[in-house]
Amino acid sequence: MARWNTQAILAASLASAAFSQQNVLDLSTIDWTLSNSNFNISVPAQLPSQAHLDLYAAQVIGNPIYGLNDFNLRWIANSNWTYTSAPLVGFTNSSSTWLLFNGLDTFTSIELCGEHVASTNNQFRQYYFEVSSILSSCAGSPVLSINFGSATQIANAIAAEPGQETWPFGVEGLFEFPNRQFIRKEQSDFGWDWGPAFAPAGPWQPAYLIQLGSADIHVRNSLVDIYRLGQLNNLPPDQTQNWVLNASFDCIGNLPPHASLNYRLADSKNFTILNGSLENITSSSSTITGNVIVPKGAVDLWWPTGMGSQTLYQLALELVDNSKNTLAIVNKRVGFRTIVLNEGVITQEQLDQGIAPGNNWHFEINGHEFYAKGSNFIPPDAFWPTVTETRIRQLFDSVVAGNQNMLRVWSSGAYSPDFIYDLADEMGILLWSEFEFGDALYPVNQEFLDNVREEVNYQVRRVNHHPSLAYWAGGNELENLELYLVELAAPSQLDRYVAEYEKLFLNTIVPVLFGNSRSISYSPSSTSNGYLQLNFSLPIPIVERYQNLTPGSIYGETDHYNYDSSLAFDYSSYPIGRFANEFGYHSMPSLQSWRQAVALSDLHFNSSVIQLRNHHYPSGGLNTTNYDNSSKGMGEMTMAALRWYPVPNKRDSIANFSAWCHTTQIFQADFYSSQIQYYRRGSGMRERQLGSLYWQLEDIWQAPTWAGIEYDGRWKVLHYIAKDIYQPVIISAFLNASTHDFEVYVTSDLWSSVTGSVNMTWYDWSGNRLNISTPTSTTVTVGALNTTRVLKTNTNEILSEYDLADVMLVMDVSVQGQLPNSNTTQPFTHKNWFHAAPLSQAHLVDPGLELDYSKTSSKFTVKATKGVAAWVWLDYPTGAVLNFDANSFWLLPGEEREVGFTVKSDTTNGKWISGVTVESLWDNTQP
Ligand SMILES: *[C@@H]1O[C@H](CO)[C@@H](O)[C@H](O)[C@H]1NC(C)=O
Ligand SMILES: *[C@@H]1O[C@H](CO)[C@@H](O)[C@H](O)[C@H]1NC(C)=O
Ligand SMILES: *[C@@H]1O[C@H](CO)[C@@H](O)[C@H](O)[C@H]1NC(C)=O
Ligand SMILES: *[C@@H]1O[C@H](CO)[C@@H](O)[C@H](O)[C@H]1NC(C)=O
Ligand SMILES: *[C@@H]1O[C@H](CO)[C@@H](O)[C@H](O)[C@H]1NC(C)=O
Ligand SMILES: *[C@@H]1O[C@H](CO)[C@@H](O)[C@H](O)[C@H]1NC(C)=O
Repeated sequence: MARWNTQAILAASLASAAFSQQNVLDLSTIDWTLSNSNFNISVPAQLPSQAHLDLYAAQVIGNPIYGLNDFNLRWIANSNWTYTSAPLVGFTNSSSTWLLFNGLDTFTSIELCGEHVASTNNQFRQYYFEVSSILSSCAGSPVLSINFGSATQIANAIAAEPGQETWPFGVEGLFEFPNRQFIRKEQSDFGWDWGPAFAPAGPWQPAYLIQLGSADIHVRNSLVDIYRLGQLNNLPPDQTQNWVLNASFDCIGNLPPHASLNYRLADSKNFTILNGSLENITSSSSTITGNVIVPKGAVDLWWPTGMGSQTLYQLALELVDNSKNTLAIVNKRVGFRTIVLNEGVITQEQLDQGIAPGNNWHFEINGHEFYAKGSNFIPPDAFWPTVTETRIRQLFDSVVAGNQNMLRVWSSGAYSPDFIYDLADEMGILLWSEFEFGDALYPVNQEFLDNVREEVNYQVRRVNHHPSLAYWAGGNELENLELYLVELAAPSQLDRYVAEYEKLFLNTIVPVLFGNSRSISYSPSSTSNGYLQLNFSLPIPIVERYQNLTPGSIYGETDHYNYDSSLAFDYSSYPIGRFANEFGYHSMPSLQSWRQAVALSDLHFNSSVIQLRNHHYPSGGLNTTNYDNSSKGMGEMTMAALRWYPVPNKRDSIANFSAWCHTTQIFQADFYSSQIQYYRRGSGMRERQLGSLYWQLEDIWQAPTWAGIEYDGRWKVLHYIAKDIYQPVIISAFLNASTHDFEVYVTSDLWSSVTGSVNMTWYDWSGNRLNISTPTSTTVTVGALNTTRVLKTNTNEILSEYDLADVMLVMDVSVQGQLPNSNTTQPFTHKNWFHAAPLSQAHLVDPGLELDYSKTSSKFTVKATKGVAAWVWLDYPTGAVLNFDANSFWLLPGEEREVGFTVKSDTTNGKWISGVTVESLWDNTQP
């Protein structure tokens, strides 16, 4: 059924006059058919959609992410798929008609009424085509048909073109399908080490048919940029300046001469704060831009979660002609904040604080340094049309509950839809965003660069108004990995490939980005050593540092992957830098997740289905010392588990499989926690380390991956441990693996100093106190974003009389302090554990765990009655998704802990509660 809307009714109106005769047909409201004649398939379809989704809905195929369908469904990726509309009816007389596509994935040939309209080749661009003449000569009701070519085949054909660009072997990070770098499509659609390769095709974003009267304007995209007067990209602005609000419309239809823009800024209750006309209007036939000063006192600041409130404003923008007739209205929700990536030279003042020379690499919100705590967000589904606001809200609730304030929206997925930024705006989650390039070098022919320029212009303008937008990076692992691989494989060609890299990531992207936005910072690569120079009198203001390093100085970001698990807890193997943007190790998902994805008979560690869902195997590109090429994936997990924890020894094979999966999760969480504590402590060390974003937040399917949250939303051990270790004030033990120097630090990321006390008590595994000669309590003061050592000793000395397998330390800190932008003093506490020997060797005892549930308080109580309980784990059955307030904690004998929970979804009608179990590491060893 066709549903025509006049835009005048849709828009929340600024002026009352009906201003437009235009008709907008939302193409999601009509019937569609998906077909492929070779396979004789024709099924009902949706828009937005992708072929796999419609084939699954029509039961032509099973669930794409079940079992080995990742491999079995390759025929879909290798075929053309045609989306055909029902006849379009209800046209009115109009002077022009347009097709507007917000996203086509990826290669299309579009026909209307049997006539070719256009071809497209970029998943990330908005496309619009005038079809007036086709319609005027169309007999009967026109049919729209979109033929999607096979991206895998077309990528291969482009790669094989004569004269096509090539790179040294290994530079292309190759997962399942080759040649992804030649096409502008989600790069992980061709496979990645954490996901399947479906290379889907389809109209993945909304599309419209638009009919305009002769004076009508349709706004297809718009930009709002809010910055401090005088602000320049990548530079901390003067926080005492007023705001500039710059707005711009991209229009379909002809903008009349002397058109102008009115604005109204209102608070969340819709009280007008300011209104009037934008000044300094410039316009072309399709774009109009203007700006206005917003006095700094008129608005409140927007802050990330944990640092203040997320104040948002409604901005209505009205396009008027010179007789003051309204031509269009756009509403955008905005916030006032500055967020800058400071890569500036370490100042004398910083040197005086003990910070190592070199350059900064950290974020500043509204002029304040802060510690960025978070993780990397990958595409939440292999099929974006299934990603709903409900799913992302549930995920982001876990982000905020997990004490995370920043996500790196990893490049090589897709640009996030506006609703994801909207949720982040509301919840205070900073989104480090990236252009969609990664783990490859890219062609630089004119056509490719022009295509990227359009993509960047559209995406930057679409999302720039969101206060959660924290930063743009050019792509993933380009300088630290890709150029390094060139240097290894073909050093004589390095200059050429660096020049090409700069042509795309500096010369092409920077003018478009900085031309649209003064409010955002940019760096061409995650990870990098930052810039060497930032100079706005140069045509391209950013000059990259690359390997131009001075010994003793510290620069840039780090990533860290080391699959030699013997080094996992040896902090001398961790990188020292200003910011950790990626680090990790994979683990198995829970038994509950595996049950969703594989048959019962495959539920054992080395079943071929489970092994084939591990995509962390050697690939052409990753052949460096950091990326061990030997026994990948499964072996790394089992070796790490065996090395550091007791071997699961359950008689029941499924229970044993589950215990193994769980042990790999404990190793993962333990390793990340060790690194996060090291990086956070670095805030008070020479490196002035101000961020750790681990790899990765969430899963795209049920498989061995680096995720902390499983595909259905269930938290792995990692997400609980990250929540604990991302609290504002933490206490941490550091054992030097070679000297056995042993130190305890209290680290705080609050913005003012905190004072309180620390207890440190040694025990054996039965919970008997040991008389080890270290102070049992002390006072502590920690400065803003700093760390304080509360113990320094050496375990060779203090533990010489003990069997290390019998010794553990409990550390408690309790301080008084204030959250950023809060006047309320409140307590901050943290508890942590150190064991002198690996848990695989420790003399664990039966802790005698007891579990109770109170209906009145809706809380569980866990108690250890006999011995120390390590890694206490509350588990719950399938059918519900929830998270406990805390999990994988430790208990001393006699200690009990109340644990509440937050239910995300429940199909068991509350019955999951009676299925909750509790175990600790000791229980793994019991049949
Ligand atoms: C497959 O799709 C591409 C892109 O739409 C088109 O160019 C090509 O002609 C199609 N091939 C067939 C056999 O339909
Ligand atoms: C906000 O106020 C304006 C001006 O009074 C009004 O036109 C508009 O409908 C209001 N919007 C909402 C969502 O109430
Ligand atoms: C608009 O232009 C005038 C004159 O060039 C300038 O003084 C003013 O600062 C501009 N306004 C803004 C908001 O940039
Ligand atoms: C951290 O605290 C120490 C000890 O008070 C102080 O010397 C140092 O300058 C502080 N570092 C920063 C960056 O403020
Ligand atoms: C990978 O590493 C091995 C051993 O270091 C080496 O022999 C081989 O040539 C490398 N392969 C590639 C593709 O670089
Ligand atoms: C340290 O122990 C004392 C005595 O048991 C207790 O009163 C205090 O609350 C503890 N402090 C912390 C930080 O746990």
